[in-house]
Amino acid sequence: MDPMDPMNPINPINPMNNVGTDPPMEERFAPRARPKRSPRYGGRPTAITSLATYVPPRVLTNADLEKLVETTDAWILQRTGIRERHIVDPGVAASDLAKEAALKAIERAGLTPDDIGFIVVGTVTPDMMFPSTACLLQHKIGAHRAWGFDLSAACSGFTYALTTASQIVASGAHDHALVVGADVMTSIIDYQDRATCVIFGDGAGACVVSAAPADEGAILDYEHEIDGSGGAALCMPAGGSLHPPSQETIDRRLHYVKQDGQTVFKFAVRKTEEISRRIMERNGLTPDDIDLFVSHQANRRIIQSASEKLGIDPDKVIINIERFGNTTAATIPLALNDAVCSGRLKKGDLVLLASVGAGFTVGSVLVRWGF
Ligand code: UT7
Repeated sequence: MDPMDPMNPINPINPMNNVGTDPPMEERFAPRARPKRSPRYGGRPTAITSLATYVPPRVLTNADLEKLVETTDAWILQRTGIRERHIVDPGVAASDLAKEAALKAIERAGLTPDDIGFIVVGTVTPDMMFPSTACLLQHKIGAHRAWGFDLSAACSGFTYALTTASQIVASGAHDHALVVGADVMTSIIDYQDRATCVIFGDGAGACVVSAAPADEGAILDYEHEIDGSGGAALCMPAGGSLHPPSQETIDRRLHYVKQDGQTVFKFAVRKTEEISRRIMERNGLTPDDIDLFVSHQANRRIIQSASEKLGIDPDKVIINIERFGNTTAATIPLALNDAVCSGRLKKGDLVLLASVGAGFTVGSVLVRWGF
């Protein structure tokens, strides 16, 4: 083994060597299916200690969409796997959905908002350009001691936010961080464009990341990429500094999501597989070692195709897009929550999260589930 490889026990930057002695023999040669925390994480072990989600009560079915655009329930179901999605009433913003999920997550962690030191909100539909949704959320939940910010990574919002919070907690800066993925996609969807309006829905998910003993679940490793060359394939062109709002941008409907569906589809399948394979390989894992694969829910066919290529048993793949559509930063917590509620995700399970989103953004996080 290369002595400079950070995983090599003789390399001084290997965190297992922090105590100044070689780790015990049984740790160095532990079964590979029990991965240690990645050397990318300095500092203390971290874990997801609670999870909660929220979707607005109103439901938009495929039959409803048949009345708005030229589409059919059969086409939507066959091409995307979606039957219905939840949508907000006018006046309900991302911070409102985030608040519902966040308060539940904090309570389930046995904490109060005052215990939270850091808030990160993954969203591409902030309440407004500024202040950030994190600021608005901090005020709404009364997290008086927290600081934080929004993170724009589209459908990778949750995986990016989870890694960011985990690193902050691992550093020792804070004991408890709040991770939120919240999107009101209906606020930026063109209900005259059948290629996009059938896909998206609204929702939020939140979890608390805390410093925790490694045997109580752990956030083990992550892998992220961005590829800006794909920016034009999925974007909202107007409303920012390049095309500030004007009558022309409104007339040209540039404040809505524009997507080259096929390009995004192919990229999503390829990258979901690639990033998942890479994180498994780095941790000495095979698909058989993964107990649950929770991918971003953009299209049933993307998840099935990527997980098939990876060789992950379909029984270990969570697909709940049927009921929620693509809620962007909220899909992964919504899928995790379904897995917990249905008994498919249990304490001690090894969970692989994966996401691909606008940007392009790509992410994966390896988690030992702790509750
Ligand atoms: O989460 C962020 C990342 N986003 C994604 O991962 C989305 C990736 N892309 C997709 O999921 C799929 O590309 C879509 C669901 C967006 C579209 O499915 P597709 O199988 O790629 O359809 P397509 O764009 O190739 O269109 C096939 C046909 C076209 O008609 P023609 O040209 O063959 O006559 C479309 O006009 O389907 C037509 N079509 C529709 N027909 C009925 C497109 N949208 C609809 C619709 N209802 N809603």
